[in-house]
Amino acid sequence: MASTFTPSKILIFGGTGTIGAYITASLLRAKPVGAPWQLVLFTSPGTASAKAAQLSKWKAEGLQVIVGDLTSERDVVAAYKEGVDTVISAVGRGGLQLQIELLRLAEASGTVRWFLPSEFGTDIEHNADKSPSEKPHQLKLQVRRYIREHITRVNVTYVVTGPYFDMWINTMPGAERAGGFGKAERLAYVIGDGEGKVGFCTMWDVGKFVVATLRHPEASFGKALKVQSFVVTPNEVVAEFERQTGAKWTVVKTPLDEIRVLEAKAWDEGSPVATGYTLRRIWAEGGTLYDKNDNEILGLKPEDLDQLELGVRRGLEGGYRNDTF
Ligand SMILES: NC(=O)c1ccc[n+]([C@@H]2O[C@H](COP(=O)([O-])OP(=O)(O)OC[C@H]3O[C@@H](n4cnc5c(N)ncnc54)[C@H](OP(=O)(O)O)[C@@H]3O)[C@@H](O)[C@H]2O)c1
Repeated sequence: MASTFTPSKILIFGGTGTIGAYITASLLRAKPVGAPWQLVLFTSPGTASAKAAQLSKWKAEGLQVIVGDLTSERDVVAAYKEGVDTVISAVGRGGLQLQIELLRLAEASGTVRWFLPSEFGTDIEHNADKSPSEKPHQLKLQVRRYIREHITRVNVTYVVTGPYFDMWINTMPGAERAGGFGKAERLAYVIGDGEGKVGFCTMWDVGKFVVATLRHPEASFGKALKVQSFVVTPNEVVAEFERQTGAKWTVVKTPLDEIRVLEAKAWDEGSPVATGYTLRRIWAEGGTLYDKNDNEILGLKPEDLDQLELGVRRGLEGGYRNDTF
């Protein structure tokens, strides 16, 4: 049965968000193999009004929009009843726990066949000894536990992308030592000696990987797919910034142990950068590295994906905040 499934009506939650916008735009513009898919965005009244111009542009490209409250059982059930067979959740960190109800209702719907929870980031099961206790992993781990224990009818796929290169190249204000590139000052912050490889996705490639996942249902069901645009060291990124700007950059290197101290302090103080410290520390520790990633399962080759040169160029041209959809 599973091998004959092709998504036909896809509902996305959080589809105007930071990564959701790349996914929505990519799905709208992808040419599905076989029957075309219909894309439906479920969005809150606040977002529908704040992002009205974006939504009307997407509607002209074929997007159907449902305005509702994703914490309302009635609204979610009504949306699923529109013939939805596939759900993508790109809800933000603050809404991760709400997915348990979205999954329960999907399981009960009788029509939803496939659910991609909001992951699109760090591999939360990378290091079996440490991952279970990493603070930023807790809600995503809870969602995975609920799925293991309660979801039997609906197929689930986690798209694990690692850090977004487009974001990683920016410093976090107040936590610069955790990494990033200051264009104006030509100042680069790296963790450790800068020689540790990190696997990245660009934000546009996250969209591409989600499209590819939907085109490969049977290969994706039940998996946490580890996908990557490119794997490079921070020193290679510095060299690319220097090449493209034609200038030498100052590099500030902070030992991993010092980052761990700053990270602990940020958590103790309840700082908003604490999560960022932890994730950047995990990535610097090798938390994005695999003997082999899953790009091939999705039929994507290096030439189909963004590379370091383009990632740096986009960063120098204004970065992801300037992207339009
Ligand atoms: N790999 C990386 O470097 C990286 C970086 C950032 C994020 N991520 C991951 O990407 C996923 C999406 O994160 P994001 O930053 O793109 O999300 P976001 O922009 O913060 O939020 C996306 C959307 O989620 C919906 N939402 C509904 N209830 C919510 C709630 N209670 N709290 C927050 N959002 C709520 C909202 O859409 P409506 O108003 O339309 O309902 C919102 O626009 C997360 O799993 C996150 O961990 C990864």
